[in-house]
Amino acid sequence: MIVCVCNRITESEVREAARVGCSTAEAAYACQDCEVQCGCCLDFAQELIDEERGKRSHLRLVTAEAA
Ligand code: FES
Repeated sequence: MIVCVCNRITESEVREAARVGCSTAEAAYACQDCEVQCGCCLDFAQELIDEERGKRSHLRLVTAEAA
């Protein structure tokens, strides 16, 4: 699945970057020798990174508190 259309960065590439230590989308893209272009993908990329790094995303926290 493509996460970043501008740079053609896939979900697996974002997750791999997170596993090697990238904590932001910008850092993950830099691992692919890319830079953020339009920025439309940043929220989703960050969710993937947070998930991969074992952090709970804001959406999950809101959902859990509402339950
Ligand atoms: S879709 Fe990722 S920078 Fe545009």
